[in-house]
Amino acid sequence: MELAAGEKEEILKHVGAVLEEFKTTRESLVPMLQAVQKKVGYLPELAMEKIAEGLDIPAVDVYGLATFYNQFRLNPPGRYQVKVCMGTACYMIGGKVALESFERRLDIQEGETTPDREFSLERVACVGCCSMAPVVLINDMVEGRVTPTRVDGLLLEYKDGEEKISEENKEEARTKGADNSSSNEEGERSA
Ligand code: FES
Repeated sequence: MELAAGEKEEILKHVGAVLEEFKTTRESLVPMLQAVQKKVGYLPELAMEKIAEGLDIPAVDVYGLATFYNQFRLNPPGRYQVKVCMGTACYMIGGKVALESFERRLDIQEGETTPDREFSLERVACVGCCSMAPVVLINDMVEGRVTPTRVDGLLLEYKDGEEKISEENKEEARTKGADNSSSNEEGERSA
């Protein structure tokens, strides 16, 4: 995935700090990757290459380890992080179908992020709302009984919701602007 403007410098800064903080031995690899992910939010290829250089090991070894452990995220988190529950209850009642629906609609696979970084998709273990199965979390919002039709609705809802909020913000700014200009006019008149 392409890096956003300024992201490269940010990654290099964090990797540099991590290389200084940890002993540059192979045993430090996992804690180093954890530290980078904590700072950057995921493990970009650039970070893995630079860590490999710092440890003087092949980049493929770092990549192999990062893909081996579930804890590592290789794509940036989307603005909306969609987490589909794959606990037993959700899986049995349609969690897999919900996951596949998101994959189709967003045109990404589980573990990936849309190119515009709006949505990322992952599976999670039971989130404790089994009576609402199948369950999906979108950021911190719990959505229950997620059928394929509801997947369409949710994606529209989040995109539309964002547009509505920005429209409301624009409207609020316009109203404030109008209020300010009328109070300025009042001020000028009374001066
Ligand atoms: S199995 Fe999905 S919430 Fe429990």
